[in-house]
Amino acid sequence: MKQTAIAPANIAFLKYWGKKDERANLPWTDTISMTMDRCTTKTTVDFDTSYKKDSLSVSFYNQEESEVRDQKKKQKVFDLISRIRTEAGIQTYARVVSENSFPSDAGIAASASAFAALTVAAAAAAGLQLSERELTLLARLGSGSACRSIPDGYVLWKKGSSHETSYAKSLYPPSYWNLCDLVAVVDPGKKAFSSTEGHEYAPTSEFFNERIKHLPKRVSLLKEALKKKDFELLGTLIEEEARSMHAIALSSQPPIVYWNDGTKQIISCLLELRKTHLLGYYTMDAGSNVHIICQQKDAGNITKYIEQLDQVQMVLTNRPCEGAHLVEEHLF
Ligand code: PMV
Repeated sequence: MKQTAIAPANIAFLKYWGKKDERANLPWTDTISMTMDRCTTKTTVDFDTSYKKDSLSVSFYNQEESEVRDQKKKQKVFDLISRIRTEAGIQTYARVVSENSFPSDAGIAASASAFAALTVAAAAAAGLQLSERELTLLARLGSGSACRSIPDGYVLWKKGSSHETSYAKSLYPPSYWNLCDLVAVVDPGKKAFSSTEGHEYAPTSEFFNERIKHLPKRVSLLKEALKKKDFELLGTLIEEEARSMHAIALSSQPPIVYWNDGTKQIISCLLELRKTHLLGYYTMDAGSNVHIICQQKDAGNITKYIEQLDQVQMVLTNRPCEGAHLVEEHLF
């Protein structure tokens, strides 16, 4: 059977950095994120007896569809397909075709939207009827952060202590709060260290245990900021958290420096704008591009300033949105 799903990327306000369990992608902390409507992946999965093996091809924004050559990435997708096949009790092979709505050279990690769309499409195509919670468990196995792209809007990933208890759920729907994530792209190239490597090296940082000890406090403050819609508190916590994660990356063995001149230029600009009461707060994932969290009323104004910086190549405006869901229109 053939099924198609669309899933958004998500930006972590509170980061997953370091794995407590490498095989199951269990985090050390609860994490909190927002879905991103401008950056989505659409995936069609077809299980059919005519296929002699599993296959995967991907097309990025404005590019031709091509077979995925990166063996590790391909294997992760096929592992998830196999697991779903086993759970559904079927033996047929799958054809998987995937398309990204955002430029592949934007340097935005596509693994969250990719594994969330894959999970929802493959589970339905295999005939499984799973709850949202069960879908988040499966997506997490592909890529930890992918579980946060299944529910809608503002999402909490509970760290749990086992495969069954580490799931994601929506804290608030997209309409709850008019926030924006302006992704300022400063480096479209492939990052020097993948998030997989970052997770692996994180515990070698001498500050790692300190961070873990401190996180429950930050989680509860962040929940509080969301509940009260206290934007300044939320922004302050998001920035603290970004610096904490990047401090671990910087001090791990080997050290990882994700920031570049563009990252610093944007941070300086945001700090200047803040003096004029134009509020945009920065956070960075495993890369140099800056996600600027702001209120929708300020998005146009902040974009105007950020676009003028010489290091900035483009700005993608994202609003919170619905999580992964099935759609009627297939890719093949
Ligand atoms: O899901 P992964 O293994 O690609 O890790 C994501 C890591 C960060 O994006 C840096 C943080 C996060 O929580 O999304």
